[in-house]
Amino acid sequence: MCGIVGCIGHEKSVAFLLEGLEKLEYRGYDSAGIAVHGGDELKVYKARGKLENLRNLLNGNSSSYSLKAGIGHIRWATHGVPNETNAHPHISSENKVSIVHNGIIENYKELKRELSERGVEFKSQTDTEVIAHLIEDFLNQGHEFCDAIRHALKKLDGAYALGVIFKEDPETLYAARKSAPLIVGVGKNRNFIASDAPAILEHTKRVIYLEDNEIAQIKSSSYKILDLEGNILKKKVETLPWEPVSVSKMGYKHFMLKEIHEQPDVIRQTLFDKLRSTDQPLNLKEVKLTRQQLENLDRIQVIACGTSLHAALVGKYLIEEFTGVPVDVEASSEYIYKRAIVSKNSITIGVSQSGETADTLTAIKQAKAKGSHVLVITNRPDSTMAREADSLLPVNAGFEVSVAATKSYSAQLMAFYLLAIFLAEIKNSLPAERIEEYKKELIQLPQKIEMILSNKEKIHECAIKFHNTRNFIYIARGINFPVALEGALKLKEISYINATGYPAGELKHGPIAMLDETIPVLSVLAPGKVYEKVLSNSEESKARNANMIAVTSEENEHLEQVFDFIINIPYTDEVFSPILTTIPLQLLAYYIAEFLGKDIDQPRNLAKSVTVE
Ligand code: F6R
Repeated sequence: MCGIVGCIGHEKSVAFLLEGLEKLEYRGYDSAGIAVHGGDELKVYKARGKLENLRNLLNGNSSSYSLKAGIGHIRWATHGVPNETNAHPHISSENKVSIVHNGIIENYKELKRELSERGVEFKSQTDTEVIAHLIEDFLNQGHEFCDAIRHALKKLDGAYALGVIFKEDPETLYAARKSAPLIVGVGKNRNFIASDAPAILEHTKRVIYLEDNEIAQIKSSSYKILDLEGNILKKKVETLPWEPVSVSKMGYKHFMLKEIHEQPDVIRQTLFDKLRSTDQPLNLKEVKLTRQQLENLDRIQVIACGTSLHAALVGKYLIEEFTGVPVDVEASSEYIYKRAIVSKNSITIGVSQSGETADTLTAIKQAKAKGSHVLVITNRPDSTMAREADSLLPVNAGFEVSVAATKSYSAQLMAFYLLAIFLAEIKNSLPAERIEEYKKELIQLPQKIEMILSNKEKIHECAIKFHNTRNFIYIARGINFPVALEGALKLKEISYINATGYPAGELKHGPIAMLDETIPVLSVLAPGKVYEKVLSNSEESKARNANMIAVTSEENEHLEQVFDFIINIPYTDEVFSPILTTIPLQLLAYYIAEFLGKDIDQPRNLAKSVTVE
C-alpha cells in the first residue's frame, strides 16, 4: 500500500526511480511522483493515476543531477483524494526538504494545527505533508539534517516508511521506518531504498532490513543506521532470496490469467519440495516445535485477511477433520481489538501472501507478546512477518503481480494440506492407509487442474451470459464454503459486481428473499458429505427462478434439470475439492471482468500489499 524507492550515486537516477516504481505498482496506482536534485533546487514531478502518466510527463523532461539523491512514490490514497496536489513527493514551504511516505500519521491534524498557527501553509489534504514541514522547522532551528529528521520523527504517532532528501545535502539519502516495510539496498558506489525487494533486485541483492524507529543516512559508498537518539547501530547485511523478477505476461493478456495457469506448477513444486514419498511420514522441519509440543497441541488460532483468510478457513476444516484439534479462524482486523487468548498448548498461525499486511502483522505480534508460538505461512520469506515468525512455512508461489490473489491462495491451501497431514501423523489421528491415499491424491491434483485449464469453454459461455448481471450468489457447504467466499471475492474485486458467498443452508434464513430470474446462483457441488444437501438448497433456489450454475464432477440428468450451466471438473476426494473447485471460479471472475473491459490486474481502489490498518 504505497510504494517508495530512492537512490544515491546512480548515474541515471530518474530512470532507476521509474523502473523501481514500475516494480512496486502493485502497491497502489492513484498517483506517482519523483523528487530529484536539479540545478540548485529540488525538482518534483508528479501525476495523477498510473505510473504511465508520470512517464508521459517526464518524457524529455527528466534532467536531474545524476549521482545525487532521488526519491519516488506510488500512491494508494488514504488521506486526501487521488489528485496531483496530494501525490507524493511532498515538499516543505521553503523547498528545503522533500519526502515520500508509506503509512498513516495518526496525529497529523494536531501537528498541522500547531504548524499552521506558526504560519506554515499547507498545500495538500494529506497526513504526509506535516512531516516535510516539521523536518524543515527543525532545520530552521539549527539542527543538522539527520537530527532534524530524528526530532521530527519523535513527534509522529502512527506508521511510516519514509524517504527524505534535502536541497542542501544532495549527496545523502535518508530513510526511516516504523510499522511499514523498508529496506536499504547496498550496491557498488550506489545505494538504494525500497518498500519491497523487486524494486532493487536488478541492482543489488544485498540488503539491510530497517527495524522500527531506525533511521538510515545513506551516501553513495557508505551508510549509517541510527536509532532515534542518534546512536549508531550495527546492522547485518542480508542476501535477498530472489532472482530479478520477470514482469512478463508470457503471452497471456493479463498477469491474473498467467498466474491462474501457473497453479499446477506451483503445487507440483511444493509437493516436490515436501512430499518426496507417500509411504514415509512428512517431515515439516520448518515447524519449530518439539514432537512433545506437537503431540500436546490442543488448540490453534489462525489469523489472516481477504483471500488468505479464505485459505485459512479451508485449513480449519482440514486440521479439525484430520486431527480433532479445534481451530479458530479470525480476520486479523477483528483479532487485534479483542482480548488475545493464548494457552500453553496452543499456537497461532498467521497467513499472508505479502507477509506485510498491517493487521495480520499486528495480530501475530500481539499473539507473540502473549507467549504464543507463531507460525507464519507466507509467499515472502523476506517479509516482516517472516522475520517475526517462530516457525516459517514459505509457500513458494513465486512473485504474484496481479492484485487479485490466485496462485498464492492455492499455495497456501497446499501448506494447510501438508500441515494437517503432518499433525495427523504426529498425533496418530488418522489411519496410516488413509494418509497414504491422501498423499497419493495430492500428487494427482496438478494434472487435474490442468484438465480444468484446458477445458474452459463452459466457463467462458457462462461469463458471456452473466457479465451484465449486477448481483451474484455463491453457495456451498463444508470445506467448500470458503471457496464460495473466495469465488465471490474474486468477482467483486475485479468486475465490481456485487457477489456474496453463503453457506448453502443459510439461504433460506434470509438471502433467498432476494432471488428471482435476474440473479445467478452458483453452487459448488463436490461429491461427499454435503453433496445432497447443497443440491437440495440449489433446488430451492431454482424454485425461485434463479439462474443456476453448478461447479461439479458429477454428471447426470437430474443435475441437467436443476442447472442452466454445468461446469465440470475432475473428481477428487471431498477433502481436496477446494483445490479444484476454486479454479473455475477464478476463471469465471476473470472472463466476466474481461468482457466488462475492467482493469483486471490493477482493480480500482485496491492495492496488493495492505500496509495500513
Ligand atoms: C484478494 C486479495 C486480498 C488479500 C488480502 C491479504 O484477491 O489479494 O484480499 O488476500 O489483502 O493480503 P496478504 O495475503 O498479503 O496478507
